[in-house]
Amino acid sequence: MYTEKLSKAKEGLTFDDVLVMPRRSPIEPRETEIKSVFSKRIKLNTPIISSPMDTVTEWEMAVAMSRIGGIGIIHRNMSRNEEATMVRRVKRAESLIIRNVHTIDQETPISVARNIMETKGIAGFPVVVGEKLVGIVTKRDMEFSERKEGKVKEIMTKDVVFAEDNIDPEEARKILYDHRIEKLPLVDKYHKVVGLITSKDITTRHKFPLASRDDKGQLMVGAAVGPFDIDRATLMEKEGADVIVIDTAHAHNENVLTAIKKLKKELSVDIVVGNIATADAAKDLISCEVDGLKVGIGPGSICTTRVVAGIGVPQITAIGDVADVASEFGVPVIADGGIRFSGDIVKAIAAGADCVMLGSLLAGTDESPGNEMIINGRKYKTYRGMGSMGALSKGSDRYGKFSGSKFVAEGVEGAVPYRGKVEEVVYQLSGGIRAGMGYAGCRNVQELKQKTSFVRITNNGLTESHPHDIRVVSEPPNYQLFQN
Ligand code: XMP
Repeated sequence: MYTEKLSKAKEGLTFDDVLVMPRRSPIEPRETEIKSVFSKRIKLNTPIISSPMDTVTEWEMAVAMSRIGGIGIIHRNMSRNEEATMVRRVKRAESLIIRNVHTIDQETPISVARNIMETKGIAGFPVVVGEKLVGIVTKRDMEFSERKEGKVKEIMTKDVVFAEDNIDPEEARKILYDHRIEKLPLVDKYHKVVGLITSKDITTRHKFPLASRDDKGQLMVGAAVGPFDIDRATLMEKEGADVIVIDTAHAHNENVLTAIKKLKKELSVDIVVGNIATADAAKDLISCEVDGLKVGIGPGSICTTRVVAGIGVPQITAIGDVADVASEFGVPVIADGGIRFSGDIVKAIAAGADCVMLGSLLAGTDESPGNEMIINGRKYKTYRGMGSMGALSKGSDRYGKFSGSKFVAEGVEGAVPYRGKVEEVVYQLSGGIRAGMGYAGCRNVQELKQKTSFVRITNNGLTESHPHDIRVVSEPPNYQLFQN
């Protein structure tokens, strides 16, 4: 029986065991498209997601990720209110249309308007009678007007330029530009002020053409919650999270399956669930109607699950097994953990993933919350597993909680090389994905998933794949080997 069990052992492959085969190609890397999906309703221009870890994703990382077309998932190793505040900060970082517009009545004394502008940091108001738009007054009107006394109506611009609600962003930009104005009030059919578009927000929008935005023009953000924390999940949805990520070390657990069915009834946003590593887990979770599946048991750079618990599936095999089931039901697959180079992303997608989640590659950037440190003259940032002693003692319950105050860790704490701005890191990763698509003759992510094949390689093949017989004296930004 046991020998049979051993002889039936499945072979598991990971990133370093395979390469994607080159193919006759009609396309150049610059012509490729890397847009993809994270969940059934969340589409991304860049198939990269930052991991919900307390040294990777807080609001700054989430804003940066969303601006470059990916998405950040805020970690949950903090109070519900703290996580809610972070979600709110991302949602408010940019918005095309301001909805809670500060208006001012035309009879207001100039001194009062000036005072509100200064204390609330407002640069200008649409002026109203009742709720109807009759003018606009800005800080500049105040500065250039001789009048210190009197009412707002005496210094406001009366022939105010306005637009109908739900104007197209491009049209709004044109009006702002043609009239050389900074604020465009939006009105309904009764001439009531219902919104405001500023040139600053339009400029920001133009600066980030790939950004992941919701239908109000706000940046998208995900929030991690534990499978049994309905209160946190509903709060995150209320604060505007676009997707909830159920964050557990083992999502193929019966209590988790029951909890997900409940959560599915409570929430209307998409629910992505992880982590799993088998086809059976994919089937069971898909029957709970999840909107995305996150794959990876133990491949992460900081993980010790496989050595502590003896459990896991090498990541390329895990992705393929889950994706075979998920693709039948149109459920997106996220490859989470173990990605060290852009080539690993190409392999993950060729194995069936729609996008990838990164920890270590993003933890060294300016936008991560980790601390900087210098080791042997080189700059690093702290990075730790959510199952490390440090994260567990701060409250993380993703791993290792049995009872009392002792923990059984499933992760380590350390530091990763400093990598500068997240935008630069993602630029290099996206370039690598496009290069891979060019070699494989694939125009887009769907073709990379479907039209490619793998070659299995030996350890010699792997040695040959990396630079060899040379002392590397200058590291390119997309090939930084870890140095002790
Ligand atoms: P990378 O390789 O990108 O992996 O650094 C990040 C992913 O690793 C998972 N993770 C852990 N897994 N113990 C584990 O076994 C841990 O302490 C731990 N912390 C994070 C997680 O899926 C993350 O996205």
